[in-house]
Parts: sequence; C-alpha cells; structure tokens
Amino acid sequence: MQAKVKGCRACPLHETRSNTVFGVGDPGAELLIVGEAPGADEDRRGEPFVGRAGQLLNTMLAAIGLDRGRVFIANTIKCRPPGNRDPHIEESMQCRPYLLRQIELIQPRLILATGLVAAQNLLERDDSLARMRGRRHHFGPERIPLIISYHPAYLLRLPDQKGKAWQDLQQVAAELGHARR
Ligand code: URA
Repeated sequence: MQAKVKGCRACPLHETRSNTVFGVGDPGAELLIVGEAPGADEDRRGEPFVGRAGQLLNTMLAAIGLDRGRVFIANTIKCRPPGNRDPHIEESMQCRPYLLRQIELIQPRLILATGLVAAQNLLERDDSLARMRGRRHHFGPERIPLIISYHPAYLLRLPDQKGKAWQDLQQVAAELGHARR
C-alpha cells in the first residue's frame, strides 16, 4: 500500500510534491491520529508531523505517556497542497480510500482527529470544530470511537486553547485505558 501511495497520480498534487507522506508509527497501534495534510517539512521528509506542529504533537503525546512509535500518525491526504492551503474536496475524495484502508488495516481502538479538516473528513460533516469537539463520535461500520480536538498548529498560534486540548488528551488516555481493560 505504501508503494501504491508513493506512485499515486490520482490528483494534481503529485505534480508539486517532493515526497508522499504515507503515515508513520506502529501498524498495530491502538491510537490513530489523523492530521490535515503534509506541510513543507513533511513533504521534504516524507513523514507526517515533523515540523513545529509535530514537535508539539510529540509533547502532547508524551503528556499522556505515549510516543510516536506507539501510535500511528497519518493525514487526510498524502501529498502537500502548495502553499499549505486546505485540501480541495476533489483531492480529499481521491485520497480518502488510502485513509480508509489504513484504518481497516490498523484497526485502531481509538481515532483522534486533529483540527477542522480532519474532523470534517472523518465525520463527512460540514460542521464547525466547536460543535464537533467535546462530543462522543464513532467512525465507520465498526463504530471506532473518534475524538475531535484542535490541530497542534492552531495551539501554537493560540496557546491559551491548550487547556481544552489537554481535556481532550485526558479523554484519549481514559478511552485507551478502558480499551485495555
Ligand atoms: N500538519 C498536519 O496536519 N499534518 C502534518 O503532517 C503536518 C502538519
């Protein structure tokens, strides 16, 4: 599947990418984190969340006793939109089968969607983050619990929102604790 993504030319983003960004982590992870799309650092390295937002994500994970190697991190789309614009709907639609297949293969116990784009993509709903966050959601026919939180890049811009993100992280920790019981 990784090779398939690497050779993907389904949308025009293949023309401007340096690397595809498949995802990284433990393929048997209990927690799947879904971000928006690769940025410049990710495009260069071929790995999600390696820039400043990624550093914050690592710190957030460490706060609940997790590290990158124990979770799986992916994005809604696998190629960088030029200039870090939001993904276009056609790009998200073309790329969606890859994310769905990743979820099918990983079979996570919990999905954490970071930010509006990931939340809207996973819930297939055109709603605001404020309305989607703080409620219990489920993904797909297997009804995988889905938590919606802020994107780390947003928290870098508005650090006073970190308290709310911390509440979400505690919910993640609690949910994973329950899952192991
Ligand atoms: N932001 C995202 O949403 N994903 C990345 O991989 C990096 C930054």
